[in-house]
Amino acid sequence: MSRLRTAFGTLKGIVNSAIESPRCTADALKLLPAVARGLQFSRAGSFPPPPDRAGSAPPEANPLLAYFNAHTEGPGLWKWLHYFDIYHRHFKKFAGREVHVLEVGIYSGGSLGMWREYFGKSCHIYGVDIEPACMTYKSDGIDVFIGDQSDRSFWKRFRETVPKIDILIDDGGNRGAYFSRRPVRGH
Ligand SMILES: C[S@@+](CC[C@H](N)C(=O)[O-])C[C@H]1O[C@@H](n2cnc3c(N)ncnc32)[C@H](O)[C@@H]1O
Repeated sequence: MSRLRTAFGTLKGIVNSAIESPRCTADALKLLPAVARGLQFSRAGSFPPPPDRAGSAPPEANPLLAYFNAHTEGPGLWKWLHYFDIYHRHFKKFAGREVHVLEVGIYSGGSLGMWREYFGKSCHIYGVDIEPACMTYKSDGIDVFIGDQSDRSFWKRFRETVPKIDILIDDGGNRGAYFSRRPVRGH
């Protein structure tokens, strides 16, 4: 019965949205098969951990996953669950150190706070997004830069302001960041 009520509520929401903004609803519906495929993929746990991967942590010992699970309010965090194990495996050696972390793709800002807490007080977090509204996520220890990650001149200006990056997380447009093709002195 409650499933039927939920399904009815969802249907009502779609109809209301189609009446209020038909074009956006049509665009969203076009994306639906891809979104459903993505959800199915993530729920099926299609990324099982390799049997004896050195340094992998059980989920309860992963501070990033714990942060994600505990944060149900405030700036949104948009991550696939399987990212957390991979992030923690590669990043844990930097936690607590003076590390310079750049994340491309800010969206609703939640990941910047997560990185700040994970890497600790000595870290420097830089966020890049094409959307000017993301400037609002600039805060203590978190710098925000607005630009297109496919724009070489943007990265040139960025590098003049931020000469050192230890970790680059590309969670942006996913069409390839042109941050640097050549090794950069001091990196
Ligand atoms: C998946 S969301 C980022 C999620 C965020 N890192 C988090 O964990 O919550 C992708 C973001 O990339 C940004 N983006 C898309 N294309 C971009 C581009 N060409 N340059 C910079 N940012 C871009 C979008 O504006 C969006 O905010």
